[in-house]
Amino acid sequence: MLKGKKILLGITASIAAYKAIFLVRLLVKEGAEVKVTLTPAAKEFVSPLVLSVLSKNDVLIDITSNNSWNNHVALGRWADIMLVAPLSCNTLAKMATGLCDNLLMAVYLSATCPVIVAPAMDEDMWHHPSTKKNIETLKEYGNEIIDVNSGELASGLHGEGRMAEPENIVSFLAEKFFRGSQLKYKKAFVTAGPTYEPLDPVRFIGNHSSGKMGFALAETLYEKGADVTIISGPVYQTKKYDGIKIIQVATAKEMYDTCLNLHYETDIEVMAAAVADYKPVEISAQKIKKDKANFTLSLEKTNDILAELGRKKTKQFLAGFALETNNEQDYAKQKLYTKNADMIVLNSLQDANSGFGYDTNKVSVFCADKTEHALEFATKKEIAEQIVELIINKINA
Ligand code: CTP
Repeated sequence: MLKGKKILLGITASIAAYKAIFLVRLLVKEGAEVKVTLTPAAKEFVSPLVLSVLSKNDVLIDITSNNSWNNHVALGRWADIMLVAPLSCNTLAKMATGLCDNLLMAVYLSATCPVIVAPAMDEDMWHHPSTKKNIETLKEYGNEIIDVNSGELASGLHGEGRMAEPENIVSFLAEKFFRGSQLKYKKAFVTAGPTYEPLDPVRFIGNHSSGKMGFALAETLYEKGADVTIISGPVYQTKKYDGIKIIQVATAKEMYDTCLNLHYETDIEVMAAAVADYKPVEISAQKIKKDKANFTLSLEKTNDILAELGRKKTKQFLAGFALETNNEQDYAKQKLYTKNADMIVLNSLQDANSGFGYDTNKVSVFCADKTEHALEFATKKEIAEQIVELIINKINA
């Protein structure tokens, strides 16, 4: 989402300045163009050389260097956003009062773009009334504050004052300033992960689905502007953006009920979960003991959520997944019709490093309009971007 965005990073004198190295790395990885300015005191905390190599730009510290003038106005105008991270107590006070005694402050005072700050300081400083007042002043100026975290502080104390983690800062910027609008006003849900069908209080029938593909799809739909809910089975994934809602479920029945509840208010439904096809007929109230030589489990079918949504389809764009081991394309195409889906994404178990648990995938997409798309082997996020692009094209067709 940050591709081509111009970000001016101001770094001030705080122990958290070491995290700015990761921050620059992440911003560049996300495709942003990054220029860095440091306060003179920040040089003691982080190497300008490292920052310059990672940002692929000169790092600017002084108002003049090599007998030339660093044009603070041009820098402020160049940037799409100015981010000050970490923001020390000292620079916060200068920003609140407009004290212009270094390049970073001159850029801040002349910046016409949005300014976002990520404070970092010791807990007592953070809670001091003057700090609170200065933060409120910055908010009045229209600056955005990325809240501090709680945890171990440089003083050895535990408490509030840690700078937000670099990945959270990047997500905050992306979410707040650079979200696309192709799917604005569209509501989407994505099912993700496995379902667990209990046998007794300690055991269940489940599968190896990690939820990675579903979460990548949800992230991408959100980046394009949709209002997104993930209906997730038990997984270890975390959502990248605060604005994505997650509804945790465990069983196929819970997933079914949640999907059906949301169905009529939803525009895009992506069924990436690996839902159990069968569940135990009975759930034992007590732990099942191993007192028999043989043990037979009686199973019954779960509701097919995708098929039910297909039957009840009104305005929704409905995408399902298919995981096959043989006759893959035929089975995938059949599912388009038997489940009344608009799109089936076929995962083949024949492909190495694809499917359950991997960060990469290789899929083919079959659509109700008879188009087929064989996507190249790529990361799940890249695959998600291509699938969402196809969804957008089909919706707009
Ligand atoms: N699915 C579902 N509800 C189920 C089972 C599957 O909504 N009870 C959805 C999955 O989320 C996926 C699609 O159906 O989007 C295909 O799942 P898959 O297991 O490959 O196919 P099935 O329809 O279950 O058929 P089969 O296992 O016989 O291939």
